[in-house]
Amino acid sequence: MSEAWQQRLATARDQRERLQRWRSRRVASHDALDFAGNDYLGLAQDPRVQAAQAEGAKRFGAGAGASHLVSGHLSIHDALEAALAEWTGRERALLFSTGYMANLGVLQALADSHTAIFQDRLNHASLLDGAALSGARSRRYHHRDGQDLARLLARSRATHQLVVSDGVFSMDGDIADIEQLAHLSQQHGAWLMIDDAHGLGVLGENGAGCVAGFNSQQVPILVGTLGKALGTAGAFVAGDAALIEHLIQFARSYVYTTAQPPGIAAATLEALTIVQREPEHRQRLARHIDYFRQQATALGLPLGHSQTPIQPLLLGSEQRTMAWAARFDKHNVQVGAIRPPTVANGEARLRITLSARHTQSDIDRLLDVAATCLHEEPR
Ligand SMILES: Cc1ncc(COP(=O)(O)O)c(C=O)c1O
Repeated sequence: MSEAWQQRLATARDQRERLQRWRSRRVASHDALDFAGNDYLGLAQDPRVQAAQAEGAKRFGAGAGASHLVSGHLSIHDALEAALAEWTGRERALLFSTGYMANLGVLQALADSHTAIFQDRLNHASLLDGAALSGARSRRYHHRDGQDLARLLARSRATHQLVVSDGVFSMDGDIADIEQLAHLSQQHGAWLMIDDAHGLGVLGENGAGCVAGFNSQQVPILVGTLGKALGTAGAFVAGDAALIEHLIQFARSYVYTTAQPPGIAAATLEALTIVQREPEHRQRLARHIDYFRQQATALGLPLGHSQTPIQPLLLGSEQRTMAWAARFDKHNVQVGAIRPPTVANGEARLRITLSARHTQSDIDRLLDVAATCLHEEPR
């Protein structure tokens, strides 16, 4: 490596290490109790979904072999897109390889320097990055603050306006006020894009997410990811045919990449059938959320305002968060230790996620460790 490049990497590393924010990966242990993942319905471990994946790979191949516009668009992709469109009540749906790529693709394909994009301050990084890639003028409104959004919309002179929000906020677990966002967007002639990565499968009738009941006039652009409640991988955009055709032409992260492996598409179709036919997984998860919140409140744990499976413990300092995380680790319970730059300074937290796969005694074990952390903390 040339000296200049060595210097650049060393400086970046020094800066992160000085803040004690150097992150490292660990191979996840199979016997740990997992309260960190996003497999909210336990479908990643469902034998029917796993068998569908193997079967799909056998029938269509381990990989799609090409991009969708060349020869990689297979009948299993088409079937999955039709099922996703029907589930979300939209005319069409379009598969992407990941949620990150879906958000980059949509924003890059729709927006340009004459577009104004308005985003909730707590939106996912992929939405912020997509806006930056598009070259649009970006504004961020205060979290879930309709007044602030209305003020920014009223001031904008852009020819095209796009309001963008997470459906369920990934680090807080609270839910966007879709009705208010749809109303404000319509009032100002803006389009609304909702990324319901963490709501689909979990919330709403049929698991259709926090946008269930809102039509494509109200929420013209809906993004969903498949690697969370559906237990597989990938993402989709759902909306009117004109939107989907536009994305097929212009979304670079759709056009210039290999299509989703067909086994993943087959597994997702199976997972989607389970989500629609078996509400009991969602119901068990809802009971877990209630139980966890009740017990955590009684213990005096610093809960947020979330009614979803994402239940952060808001600890504030990074040192405190890392100390709690180390204790969970010692007890073989996996939770997410979330620090800046993923969240704002002073807002470090443990991101706890619940799954229909957990038992009540799993949740009791989690709560026991949290109670020990709280009581043995220096005061
Ligand atoms: C709100 C939100 N959107 C998009 C993504 C990205 O999805 P994917 O993991 O499929 O790239 C995530 C998390 O990963 C997310 O939390």
